[in-house]
Amino acid sequence: MLKVGLFGLGTVGQGLLEISRNSKLPFEIVAIVDRSYKKKSKITGNIAASDNPSLILDDNDIDLVVELMGGIDLPLFIIREALDKKKNVITANKFLLAEHGFALFTKAQDNGVKIGFEAAVAGAIPVIRNLENIFWYEDISLLEGILNGTTNYILTKMRTEKKEYEYALKDAQKLGFAEADPTLDVSGMDAAHKLALLASHITKSWIEYKSIYVRGIENIRLNDILWTEKAGYRIRLISRCQRIDGKVYLSVEPSIILPGHYLWDVENENNAIVFQGMYSGIHMFVGKGAGSLPTAYSVLSDIMHITQGNHNPYLMHNFVWRYNHPGSVEDKESAFYMRLLVMDEPGVLADIAKVLSEHSISIASVHQDAPIQISDHPVDLILITHKCLRKSLQTSITALEKLNSVKSVPVFLPIDEN
Ligand SMILES: NC(=O)c1ccc[n+]([C@@H]2O[C@H](COP(=O)([O-])OP(=O)(O)OC[C@H]3O[C@@H](n4cnc5c(N)ncnc54)[C@H](OP(=O)(O)O)[C@@H]3O)[C@@H](O)[C@H]2O)c1
Repeated sequence: MLKVGLFGLGTVGQGLLEISRNSKLPFEIVAIVDRSYKKKSKITGNIAASDNPSLILDDNDIDLVVELMGGIDLPLFIIREALDKKKNVITANKFLLAEHGFALFTKAQDNGVKIGFEAAVAGAIPVIRNLENIFWYEDISLLEGILNGTTNYILTKMRTEKKEYEYALKDAQKLGFAEADPTLDVSGMDAAHKLALLASHITKSWIEYKSIYVRGIENIRLNDILWTEKAGYRIRLISRCQRIDGKVYLSVEPSIILPGHYLWDVENENNAIVFQGMYSGIHMFVGKGAGSLPTAYSVLSDIMHITQGNHNPYLMHNFVWRYNHPGSVEDKESAFYMRLLVMDEPGVLADIAKVLSEHSISIASVHQDAPIQISDHPVDLILITHKCLRKSLQTSITALEKLNSVKSVPVFLPIDEN
């Protein structure tokens, strides 16, 4: 029977313990390390527990280490030590893998052991194993995903309950879908960590998450949601990996999608990934991106995979690890939605149109729902552009924000026609 050491008895760790106690499985959790192990003695029961990592790391009978603590420094130390001692490792820690994956995967390969991380990318959705096995030889030209449940929940609540961003975020926190500090989620960084891992699989090279173009949902206001809803569109935080002429383009940003888009119906805290294979066509995975039991189930499936002696092509293919430098999304074209905060005075539109035309951007439509009486306060002006280079759009925004009549351009969203 395989002996497992578990670091971290929190949301996911407790889920793993619960499933492993309810099912007959060919492995046994024999030791738990957690900083508050004393408080959790009712949960650990007769399993050896400590706050000292050596309980697991120095036990030669433990074949596999599961890291479910979160954070960077201690998990990095633990995973390095475990790999050096030729123990297989499973982790749900996307931040750690996105930061240090290159070195850790190389170390695992050198030591002939594996790192399972199905739970780190989109929780319960079995996308990593499928990419490693069934789709390893596919040529994937486009992958799009909703990789963060918190932001999808917030955007869904804003639309369905007509709530401002702050209230939808508070709801998400109350229900446990958002952390007390939601920065990693709402800034798009959490999704970027996962996209980097997915894109590394697809390109069979290492993608640094810091090279991804990332914008979050913090500036999206109810007005953006209401306008897009009225126009028959939706806003989603889309993670995108596109391969064109040998270059990979990566972005995480709020985007407008049209009816019929594969991610149209993916609501609330759900996650989804859709990709286009050159040979096998379009595939879509939808499911729970987080939660105690769903995430723990992915960890369990990795343990089973390793227990059954399956080889992981990610490591076994032995391709030479190399860094991949993505192309700049600023060189790509899209139509855009823009919300400008402008003074409600004559001549504003003419000023804006002039700046846009100087940047070769043509306007498809203009919308303003201001009161008939001229307001002293800045008002929202919504513009839809025809397709233009993102680079031109960004320089035009800098120029627009210099106009006396434009207070700011808080939101611009690409319109995703895929
Ligand atoms: N929750 C999800 O749905 C989900 C989904 C996908 C991936 N993940 C990833 O899974 C990992 C675990 O997440 P989680 O939600 O289970 O976290 P969590 O509920 O905060 O649990 C972490 C556990 O580890 C313990 N711990 C934290 N730092 C420690 C340290 N330095 N030394 C010893 N013990 C320590 C904590 O003790 P205390 O009780 O004292 O805090 C807690 O028991 C994270 O990497 C997360 O990103 C989570």
